[in-house]
Amino acid sequence: MKALKNLISIFLIGLIFGGCAYNWIVEEQAIDPGDPNAPEVSFSTQIVPIFTSKCITCHTTGSQTPDLTPANAYNSLNSSRYVNTSNPESSLIYTKPLSSHSQTYSTAEAALVLTWITQGAQNN
Ligand code: HEC
Repeated sequence: MKALKNLISIFLIGLIFGGCAYNWIVEEQAIDPGDPNAPEVSFSTQIVPIFTSKCITCHTTGSQTPDLTPANAYNSLNSSRYVNTSNPESSLIYTKPLSSHSQTYSTAEAALVLTWITQGAQNN
C-alpha cells in the first residue's frame, strides 16, 4: 500500500513539474505580427537587447551601417532604407538577418522585430 502511495506521489510530482515546463514553452512562443491584439512591442526593452547581444560587434558607431548601439539604434533605423511601415515584411532590418547574414534572428526575435515595425516602428 505504501509503495502504491509513493508511486502515486511520484506521478503527481511529475505531473506538476511537467505542467510547469509546458507553460514555460508556451510563454516562449513567438508573438504573432498579424495579430491586431498583440501586446505592444517596446523598442528599448525588446528590440535593442537583440541588437546588443547579436549585432553591435559589427554594427557599432563609426563602423558598419546601421549603427545599432543602444544610443543610436532608433535614429539609424528611422529611415525608409531600413524600415517600411506600409510593407513591414520588406524592411531591411527585418529581412537582412533572415537571409545568409553573419548573424540571424531566432524565430521569436524575427517576430518581435516584424511586430514592432507593424505597430508603427515607435521609439517606445
Ligand atoms: C560579423 C559582423 C556582423 C554582424 C554580427 C552583423 N552584421 Fe549586419 N552587416 C555586416 C556587414 C559587413 C554588412 C554589409 C554587407 C552586407 O550588406 O551584407 C552588414 C549589413 C547589414 C544591413 C544592411 C545595411 C545597409 O545599409 O545595406 C543590415 C540591415 C544589417 N546588417 C543588420 C544586422 C543585424 C540586425 C544584425 C544582428 C542580428 C547584424 N546585422 C549582425 C556585418 C555584420
